Amino acid sequence: MLAATTIDDPITVRAAADGDADSLHAYLAALTAEQLPVLFARAQAPTRERVAEMIARNTSDQRYLLLVAIEDGRVVGMLDFFGKPLAQQHHVGGFGMTVDRGWRGRGIGTRLLRSLLAWAAQRGYRRIELEVFANNPDAIRLYEREGVVPEGRRRGAIVVDGAEIDLVLMARRI
Ligand SMILES: CC(C)(COP(=O)(O)OP(=O)(O)OC[C@H]1O[C@@H](n2cnc3c(N)ncnc32)[C@H](O)[C@@H]1OP(=O)(O)O)[C@@H](O)C(=O)NCCC(=O)NCCS
Repeated sequence: MLAATTIDDPITVRAAADGDADSLHAYLAALTAEQLPVLFARAQAPTRERVAEMIARNTSDQRYLLLVAIEDGRVVGMLDFFGKPLAQQHHVGGFGMTVDRGWRGRGIGTRLLRSLLAWAAQRGYRRIELEVFANNPDAIRLYEREGVVPEGRRRGAIVVDGAEIDLVLMARRI
C-alpha cells in the first residue's frame, strides 16, 4: 500500500484506513451539502456503511485506490481511482478528487494527484483519465499543470442550473 507522505505542513496524504471512516463520512456529507455546480450531484451523501465499504475496497481490490489528505486526524481531501477491468485497458484508470471547502487552494489537490501518479506508475498504469465539467477552469488549470491534458469534449453532456455544460476529457500518459 502507498506510504504516507508528509511534505511541508501538517497535512498527510495516504491510503484511507478503517479509522478514517467517521471522518470521511462527515467529509462527504459536507461536500454533498455544498451542491457544487462542478460535480455530479448526489441527492444524498453516502452512508457510514457505504463509506466503510469504500475504505475496505482499498485492501480488497488491487485496482482501486482511495487516498485521503489528513490534518489533525481529520479528512480534508480525497481522491478515488478505478483501474479499468478489461484486459485491453488494464493500463488505464480514471480518478476524481475533492478538497474540503476550507482547505482549497493550499496545494492539497496537487499533492493528492502527485501521490496517485506515483502509485499508478509503480503499478504499471500508463494512462490516467478524468472528466471535468467545463465550468471548472480552476480545476482544469491545476490538472494541466500536472500534465493531465484535454483530449476532447462531450458537448452539452450535462445540465447544470438549466444550462448545458460540456464535459472535458483529460488524460495523462505515465
Ligand atoms: C479542484 C480541487 C480538487 C483542487 O484542489 P486544491 O487543493 O484546491 O488545489 P491546489 O491547492 O493543489 O491547487 C490550487 C489550484 O487549484 C485551483 N482551484 C480549483 N478550485 C479551487 C477552489 N475552489 N479554491 C481554491 N483553489 C481552487 C486554484 O485556482 C489553483 O490553481 P491556480 O494556482 O492556477 O490558480 C479543489 O479545489 C476542489 O475540491 N474543488 C471543488 C470540487 C472540484 O472542483 N473537484 C474537481 C472536480 S474534477
